[in-house]
Amino acid sequence: MTLWSGRFDEEMSDALVALSESFPFDQALSDVDLTASAAHVRGLARAGLLSEEEATHLVAALEEIRGEFRDGRFVRAASDEDVHMAIERRATELVGDLGRRIHTGRSRNDQVATAMRFFVREALRDVARLTLDLADALVEVADRYPNAYLPGYTHLQRAQPVLLSHHLYAHAWALARDAERARDAARRTNVSPLGAGALAGSSLPLDPASVARDLGFREAFANSLDATASRDFVAEALFVWAMLGVDLSRLGEELVLWTTAEFGFATLGDAFTTGSSMLPHKKNSDVAELARGKSGRLVGNLTGLLVTLKGLPLAYNRDLQEDKEPVFDSVHQCRLVLRALAGAYRSLEFHSDVSAEAANDPLLAAMDIAEELVVDGVPFRQAHETAGRLVASALTQGRAFADVVEEEYPGRFSGMFAPGETLRRRRSPGASGPLAQDAQRRRLDETLDVVRRSLDEEMGGISPK
Ligand code: ARG
Repeated sequence: MTLWSGRFDEEMSDALVALSESFPFDQALSDVDLTASAAHVRGLARAGLLSEEEATHLVAALEEIRGEFRDGRFVRAASDEDVHMAIERRATELVGDLGRRIHTGRSRNDQVATAMRFFVREALRDVARLTLDLADALVEVADRYPNAYLPGYTHLQRAQPVLLSHHLYAHAWALARDAERARDAARRTNVSPLGAGALAGSSLPLDPASVARDLGFREAFANSLDATASRDFVAEALFVWAMLGVDLSRLGEELVLWTTAEFGFATLGDAFTTGSSMLPHKKNSDVAELARGKSGRLVGNLTGLLVTLKGLPLAYNRDLQEDKEPVFDSVHQCRLVLRALAGAYRSLEFHSDVSAEAANDPLLAAMDIAEELVVDGVPFRQAHETAGRLVASALTQGRAFADVVEEEYPGRFSGMFAPGETLRRRRSPGASGPLAQDAQRRRLDETLDVVRRSLDEEMGGISPK
């Protein structure tokens, strides 16, 4: 028997049951749904629709059901299409007819939107915290190798030397923005749809604002149609995680390169590498490849939902049930990758001798020679041309660049080729050299701190029990 059997003569076909059931995946919402249901019950009591005693009794039943889900004791009945129906059915088993009052003034449409907003809000915070932990791990690596430097690349061609700290901070800044973006998305997510009913609100004296407060939401919905129909908060969260996935993918690609014999800049700890089933000598950076590979499904989850949402008429449509699996998957994948990558970086050994040798490539001084000429008053275009000519002669004559420069400008640029010299010269604000690092580090620490604190502030410190 379904919840709507009053209106129907025939049972639902097995094919439709199989198509429409969501319990196998939406039971992940059991905790948030139970919390929201308890708040709804308390709201009904405040509205005089349940006595205090009835409400207490119902909330106790919901807590019992929470325990059943937690310990894996919950038994699904064949009629439980989704987690919401399962909880209502079980509450009715536990407290009899009183259970039939729990859905007063509520539809699964506002119920599911509430559960999703609650879940997404918490998930955004959770993933953002792991994101900040990965940023911390990058900063820790930078701290372990304060003087290490490597070539900075453009087009993956050696361009100019950069401190390892500068390079790792660049990734940390991107991660800080990913966490900040999660916080911003959480702010828009943090609105309670409960009380919107199926689409048009209620004739009963409900007070959505007080229920919103009870659940730690920033405010209640303003429009019942919008409250039940909108899933932009889900799309936004999926974007936050897709963007994070893209950033993690770039980190992964870099780790793959750094740990090749060709680059040789870094080695990952044994605990974060894998061997080959055939080739005994292999030590593979699978962790980095999976970080790179997972971005595909994170982007897919976002685009899939956007296509689902496109063209849906107001208000609730069953298509919206398709918002769940992408969310659960994206959150799960982000957690997996973030934990593994943070561990991988903490295990990383950086070979600063190898990276310094690459960065001390004399050609990387070409720009500094041009800039020195600029200081002498030569127009930059002309200085660039001159330095370029010196590079071309060295390459065509197969001679050392430093020798060609010395021949043209005896004594003038000899200091430029000392190891690390061009790096020391990068001193403008935000630049890659040692003189600019402290200020950047202070700013980074402060930003990470502000984001961390504001994540908690936005969430009002409430979590599902
Ligand atoms: N499981 C459904 C979902 O995820 C709950 C809402 C069902 N509402 C309805 N009118 N059929 O969207």
